[in-house]
Amino acid sequence: MNGSAIYIWIIIVVMPLGLISCGPTSPGSDPVPARQNSSNEKTTTLEGGSGKPEEAGGNSQGIQPEEIEGLSGAPEEASSYPLPDLSLMSEDSFQRNAKMGRLVARQRCILCHKIEGRGAILQPPLIQVSMRRLDRMKTYDSHLDQLRTSDPDRYSSKRDLLEKITAEADVLRKMQLWLSGYLRRPTFDNSQAKMPLQVLKPVEVDQLACYVIQLAIEGYQQGETPLED
Ligand code: HEC
Repeated sequence: MNGSAIYIWIIIVVMPLGLISCGPTSPGSDPVPARQNSSNEKTTTLEGGSGKPEEAGGNSQGIQPEEIEGLSGAPEEASSYPLPDLSLMSEDSFQRNAKMGRLVARQRCILCHKIEGRGAILQPPLIQVSMRRLDRMKTYDSHLDQLRTSDPDRYSSKRDLLEKITAEADVLRKMQLWLSGYLRRPTFDNSQAKMPLQVLKPVEVDQLACYVIQLAIEGYQQGETPLED
């Protein structure tokens, strides 16, 4: 074959073959499923790792913003969360209570909330509900304003405690008072509260309140992700 014969042979035989094999119906070369797979893998890996405290704050170097899409920058937010005054936690009685509270919680609360990685997954882990509650205490007074008009009977039956909570300026002490009401009766300030009544001794309520506060603070310090509201 001379040069032009080869050229014609390519146009007549090879090009149509190429068109057929690259056509849209061709199996095995469709790029869409492959791309979906790789992005699924990426999401899974990131979700799995997002709960580890040691990764918090480190994401800015290793992982690009588009890769943490959906996590909305949570680790950075967590590490820069403005912690309240922590003086309550340095009191001896608080530390004793929190220590005992941890033991009570591991017996009583683990039925629904995971604690230190152990227990049921029926409900969010205790550390996460504790962090969310600490955050909610900052806007608690507006919740009470609402309650006063939307559920006046509930408000007046708990008026003493609710007024004490409003008057308390220290956020951790405010949360301690709130927990003393909630752990006795989860619906004490909210008819929609979903946690079933827990039968606890008064001393256990005090101990658990301190432990829950400690968990919330540790959670923010370690860059855990709080629950969405
Ligand atoms: C029978 C299951 C169950 C048990 C046992 C249980 N909880 Fe809960 N808890 C719930 C449910 C349901 C919620 C509501 C979850 C939500 O709001 O996302 C909740 C929420 C909470 C919250 C967040 C409340 C808020 O409004 O901020 C705290 C704090 C809490 N539980 C503490 C405890 C403690 C301490 C114990 C152990 C004495 C305990 N729970 C035992 C079911 C349980």
